[in-house]
Amino acid sequence: MTRISTPFNAKTTAAEILADVDLTGRRIIVTGGASGIGLETVRALRGAGAEVTVATRNPAGGERPLDLSDLGSVRAFVADWTGPVHAIVANAGIMAVPTRQVAANGWELQLATNFLGHFALITGLHDNLRQAGDARVVTVSSGAHLRAPFDFDDPHFERRPYDRWAAYGQSKTADVLLAVGVGRRWAADGVTANSLNPGYIHTNLQRHLDDDTRRAFGSMDDEGNLLTPDYYKTPEQGAATSVLLAASPLLDGVTGRYFSDNQEEEAVPGGPEVPGGVAHWAVDPAAADRLWDYALKATLN
Ligand SMILES: NC(=O)c1ccc[n+]([C@@H]2O[C@H](COP(=O)([O-])OP(=O)(O)OC[C@H]3O[C@@H](n4cnc5c(N)ncnc54)[C@H](OP(=O)(O)O)[C@@H]3O)[C@@H](O)[C@H]2O)c1
Repeated sequence: MTRISTPFNAKTTAAEILADVDLTGRRIIVTGGASGIGLETVRALRGAGAEVTVATRNPAGGERPLDLSDLGSVRAFVADWTGPVHAIVANAGIMAVPTRQVAANGWELQLATNFLGHFALITGLHDNLRQAGDARVVTVSSGAHLRAPFDFDDPHFERRPYDRWAAYGQSKTADVLLAVGVGRRWAADGVTANSLNPGYIHTNLQRHLDDDTRRAFGSMDDEGNLLTPDYYKTPEQGAATSVLLAASPLLDGVTGRYFSDNQEEEAVPGGPEVPGGVAHWAVDPAAADRLWDYALKATLN
């Protein structure tokens, strides 16, 4: 299978991706669209004419309430939605929560927020995606998915010791598998789905990181000053791959793939030291099907 490449690179901004694209009439949902990469995703999509709904825990103005860790909130959002949706950008997320926290129904919080809530949202809006005729689903994953496959035996860390990075990595593997799963199921409805790693961007996501972890990432010096290494992106650059997948004609008909820096990544063996690519375990069709069945059962209760 030929890997998809585009004329863009790591430093291309979201607005540049959509420079010649007219999104008038297209209705797009961006979760976590009130800050960080999501905010820049919303700005670029609106700049190209799309009607964008920002789904957020703390709505202001025309934003819509959505708490992804609360199935009741996800169901209320779905019930309120009428008409087609042309794209869902599953962007909201939390990272490296230091101690095991659980949502009200007992789900580990990173898995609940980053994956299970998005699964319920996307499957809840299946009919609305179908109505669009050519809808796209975009899941914002992370290079951290290379740290952990999905643990079907103990996804909520009930029996194994909690590890903040294993929990985040697992949830981000699940996001890649979700795009693979949508791609495998909804092609006949005209729905395509792809996932991405946005790169390194200073945002609120790093709120749980201690100074030693920031130093290990190269984003803090010994005196505690925040650093921005060359490989970091601005939020405008960090949002580029999201809008490429959500709205660029270059991605017409492409489904089930994983991108970084606006290019499709190659499949590699995963592992904590692996610097890039997409882990085999995250694009494995059998794992995608197994995860779909697991999530379907979990979100029915
Ligand atoms: N920044 C990076 O370097 C980086 C790298 C790789 C991947 N990513 C991914 O990029 C995505 C966007 O993150 P970001 O860097 O832009 O961080 P961010 O500014 O913290 O944005 C994350 C968004 O998710 C929302 N959110 C958190 N929990 C939620 C919940 N239960 N229900 C609904 N919304 C919730 C947050 O809303 P609140 O304001 O209410 O908290 C926030 O708007 C995430 O999926 C992240 O994993 C980021």
